[in-house]
Order: sequence, then C-alpha cells, then structure tokens
Amino acid sequence: MIRLSKISKAVGIENNNHYIIKDISFTLDSKKLGVISGRSGAGKTTLLHLIAGLDIPTDGECWVDETCISKLDSEKRAKFRLENIGFVFQSFNFLASLTISENISVPAYLNNGIKNSDIAQKVKSITEILGIDSLLDRYPNEVSGGEIQRASIARALINNPKIVLADEPTGNLDTENREIVLQSFKRIISEFGVTVLMVTHDKELEKSADTIFHLNDGVLLEAK
Ligand SMILES: Nc1ncnc2c1ncn2[C@@H]1O[C@H](COP(=O)(O)OP(=O)(O)OP(=O)(O)O)[C@@H](O)[C@H]1O
Ligand SMILES: [Mg+2]
Repeated sequence: MIRLSKISKAVGIENNNHYIIKDISFTLDSKKLGVISGRSGAGKTTLLHLIAGLDIPTDGECWVDETCISKLDSEKRAKFRLENIGFVFQSFNFLASLTISENISVPAYLNNGIKNSDIAQKVKSITEILGIDSLLDRYPNEVSGGEIQRASIARALINNPKIVLADEPTGNLDTENREIVLQSFKRIISEFGVTVLMVTHDKELEKSADTIFHLNDGVLLEAK
C-alpha cells in the first residue's frame, strides 16, 4: 500500500520558493496497478522519486505499508528502499560489462536479507515468469529493447519488494513489446502480490490501471 498525505516539494531559495509538487494526497491499495499521467514537466518523476525515498518532501508524509519513508534518515531510507521498493528506470541503468543475470542480481548481493546461495534460483524463477530466462548469459547490448525492459523489471523484483515504481517503462517500445511489458506487470501483481505505480503518457496503459492519478503543474487533478 502506498499512502501520500499532503506531500509538497519546493525548490529554490528561501523567499523564492517554487512548488513542483503541491499538497498531494492519495492511497494506492496493495496489489493494484496505479498510473500517474500528466504532460512533460507536470512533476511525475519528482513524485515517483519522493515515493521511492530517492528525494524527501518539503512537507507531508509518504507511507509504504506501516513505514513513513519520508521521516527516515538517509541511511535507514536507503536500507528500506533496497529491501522493499523496486525501481524500473526509464534508461535501464544496466552495466554493459555484466551479463543480464549479473545485472539482475546486483541488488540481491547488496541486500543482507538474501542469501547469496539463493540468488541464482531467484533470478531463474523471476525471469521464467517474464519470459527472458534464455537470455541470462547475454550482455545488455545483445538483447532487444523489450527484453531489457523486462530484465529491468526482474531486477526491480529480485529483493521481493512490497512496491514497484516504474518511470515510463514502455516509453521506447513498439506496440508488441509494450503489450508484453504490460502483461509482465500484471503478472507480477498476481504472482508476487506487489503494488505497481507507473508513470506513463500511454493512453492504452491507462486503460489497464486500477487507478489513474492525473498531475498538472504539481497538483493532483483527479484520481479515478
Ligand atoms: N531540482 C530541481 N530544481 C528545480 N526545478 C526542478 C528540479 N527538479 C525538477 N524540477 C522541475 O520540476 C518540474 C517537474 O519535473 P519532473 O521531472 O518531475 O517532470 P515530469 O512530469 O517527470 O516530466 P517528463 O514527462 O518530461 O519526464 C519541471 O518543470 C522541472 O524542470
Ligand atoms: Mg519524468
């Protein structure tokens, strides 16, 4: 469950504050697919970063289940993020010198809660569900855009997160790969019970969402 309570984010110096997120409250229940929509510059990425604890709000609280992530110090926040939040970056951020399997495994090696001897099996079971288990020994430049997008979903899932946040996960994909990625998200919600919140401009993806949060200039216009 993700719950935002009157979240604001201001940038700028003291008397010249500009709010890029203004007084946003919403709840996304567990095991739901939520979509954040809005034009470029509306504050979508900023909001996702606040929820991930990659940034802290100027005012308000962000809760992930029973934890108020915005009140944790930076060390505890990083640990909480590693153990509970998966992030699918638009630009993948895969290391070119590591195989797909090694890239997916990196967050698990950083997580003391996961035994190193269990990691290979975890990679195998997650990638089977996403249909990319035959690509594990390849390098990132040897797979397609849709395949690497699914690999980045696998990496976001490796530490058994409660929530997965995705910033335009289908931004660079053709219709067929977009559909595969969407089905992958639906599958991880049903198979792993995670809550998924994604930013997208894609009207087709919005149709699949349980809830749509529409942002305009940092203000939540509607939630449906
Ligand atoms: N650190 C910062 N300082 C000042 N302004 C910022 C900062 N970070 C973001 N902004 C501004 O806040 C607004 C929201 O940015 P954000 O990246 O959240 O937009 P977005 O909705 O994700 O846009 P896009 O669809 O283009 O990715 C933009 O006008 C951006 O220029
Ligand atoms: Mg953005």
